[in-house]
Amino acid sequence: MNSKEYMEKTEQYVLHTYNRFPVVLEKGDGVYLTDADGKSYLDFGAGIAVFALGYGNKAYNDALKKQIDQLIHTSNLYYNIPLEEAAEKLIRTSGMDKVFFTNSGTEAIEGAIKAARKYAWLKDGGTDHEIIAMNHSFHGRSVGALSVTGNAHYQEPFRPLMGGVKFADFNDLDSVNAQVNEKTCAIILETVQGEGGIYPADPVFLKGVKKICEEHDILLILDEIQCGMGRTGSYFAWQQYGVEPDIMTCAKALGCGVPVGAFVLNEKVAKASLVPGDHGTTYGGNPLACAAVSEVFDLFEEQHIIDHVNEVAPYLEQKLDELVEKYGCLSLRRGKGLMQGVVVAGRPVGEIVKKALEQGLIVLSAGSDVLRFVPPLIITKEDIDEMAVRLTRALEA
Ligand SMILES: Cc1ncc(COP(=O)(O)O)c(C=O)c1O
Repeated sequence: MNSKEYMEKTEQYVLHTYNRFPVVLEKGDGVYLTDADGKSYLDFGAGIAVFALGYGNKAYNDALKKQIDQLIHTSNLYYNIPLEEAAEKLIRTSGMDKVFFTNSGTEAIEGAIKAARKYAWLKDGGTDHEIIAMNHSFHGRSVGALSVTGNAHYQEPFRPLMGGVKFADFNDLDSVNAQVNEKTCAIILETVQGEGGIYPADPVFLKGVKKICEEHDILLILDEIQCGMGRTGSYFAWQQYGVEPDIMTCAKALGCGVPVGAFVLNEKVAKASLVPGDHGTTYGGNPLACAAVSEVFDLFEEQHIIDHVNEVAPYLEQKLDELVEKYGCLSLRRGKGLMQGVVVAGRPVGEIVKKALEQGLIVLSAGSDVLRFVPPLIITKEDIDEMAVRLTRALEA
């Protein structure tokens, strides 16, 4: 079959919930992808902030192949070796206490919500606890995760959603304070808002939220699904703020392509929330997924991925700033590390994404008007130069 036929057949059989670009991606190498017609793309999207180590990483692929030959699945009724290894590495890098592995980011959010509710229920027996979430946030599409996602468009057709959720404005402490009452059990936010348009939390705001949490024994849930795993220049973005969450959610680059997520609890929550019977999953924490996680942590160390991010990110910022300076349709840049957004003015952002694709560059959009750059964390300055060349062509096309 040729590309056109693959696309037609896909539309015939797969539920149409995505307006896909007319490209059939077939293979990857480093920071480049190749489609079924042989066209090459420089990838500044990384499968939506997933493929941190780049495509075709031999050590990563070998670790997975070895695990496939050894044992793919066991269920959570038994122990398995990669589960211990992955958990230990995640706990060590986060400095938190206990982890539960899931199959996706959305499920990590579900677990975080349940842990928070159980913590509050054990404390006072109440069943009317509230969660404060942020406007323009994104936490996933299942009913619980959608309930704390501050986007009316995503929520509307699926009401009634989970009750007891209130929304505040990100980076506006007064707005958070206004929603706090004796029923509040958790505040959930992305340390850097991703889908909403790449907004890093203001340090004063995050510290202020933490203070509110401490004063009222409210749990702070930080969603690091997109901004975590080295993307902003530390394993987790909150580590640069001096603010520790009670619960952290993680996914995407945690498995670098193998579907896996996690919610991670500090000791306070771990010892007073979920117990046997409260939460479970058939696949979560299975040997294959955990072998991926374990190898990702090893490769991050061996390849000094975080040092590398800190070295190349200022160059990406500089190059994007130059483009913003040069083109009237780009109004400003914001972001942290290798999670950058450029605001587009007077032109639909989707049009630029499409033109970039034609020029062999994958970039994403975020919010209604932001070009999003979340490349594999192994990109080099030469890759950034090449990105700028291709984006320039797209902007001028
Ligand atoms: C911050 C954040 N939270 C949660 C999710 C949901 O994760 P998943 O798509 O793996 O379910 C996403 C996905 O984009 C995300 O960016």
